[in-house]
Amino acid sequence: MRILENKMMDAKQILEWYILAGVEETCAEVPFAQIPKSVHPSVVQSSSATPVIARPATTGLAQNVGGACQTANDLCLGINSLDELKAAVENFEGCALKMTASNTVFGDGNPHSKIMLIGEAPGADEDRAGVPFVGRSGQLLDKMMSAISLDRNLYYICNILPWRPPGNRTPLDSEIAVCLPFLRRQIDLVDPDYLFIMGGAAANSLLGVAGTISKLRGHWFDYTKSNGKIAKALASFHPAYLLRTPGQKSKAWADVLRLSKELKSAQNY
Ligand code: URA
Repeated sequence: MRILENKMMDAKQILEWYILAGVEETCAEVPFAQIPKSVHPSVVQSSSATPVIARPATTGLAQNVGGACQTANDLCLGINSLDELKAAVENFEGCALKMTASNTVFGDGNPHSKIMLIGEAPGADEDRAGVPFVGRSGQLLDKMMSAISLDRNLYYICNILPWRPPGNRTPLDSEIAVCLPFLRRQIDLVDPDYLFIMGGAAANSLLGVAGTISKLRGHWFDYTKSNGKIAKALASFHPAYLLRTPGQKSKAWADVLRLSKELKSAQNY
């Protein structure tokens, strides 16, 4: 009985540890951390002897932010299509977020569009589907965009991070820095004329401007692509924030109208 109590305590402590680490759901019978020493790190043998693919918890490279940024930059130099870039991101080992994510969430929508929407990071639904903005935030965003006659066939959408931070925690600056070269290349390859940037993390990192999203939203910025051309970038609230703070929806709506007005004045959209 005493042993059983101890075991229960251990199990409870382990669960508490998982919750603290941001784990919200299980996706395999064997935790990734339980990797038998005798087996290759990429393969775990479950109790029923069915191999379960697992990822090592961290790598040295993931901790070496400067080196990982350099690797990402170098990789991007040789990439000339979105398919190549997607493959490079999927194979990149320099960001620890990849270890805990189920899928790489690269981009969705029309890659030939002149309008590109950029969010922060995939949530649980996006991580499962491998597609950005398919959960509640995405549904709200879809409604806002369809109100100005834009659906996903008419714009391209992605995030500053292609992997879900555990428990939807705020991305670390180092994670953003390592993934930024890929996003900048993604923007170059889509070559939009307009960027709609949602949330403070995306606005601060991509535009290189400080300040809260409350201050930045509603303003147009110039984003210089690697071909030297400018994309006009409008910052706005993130739809996840609007779900938590519906009182701010009118300001976000004003931003969406600002975007619509700009597109109409450019006439060819
Ligand atoms: N929030 C984001 O920033 N991106 C998504 O894809 C989903 C939610």
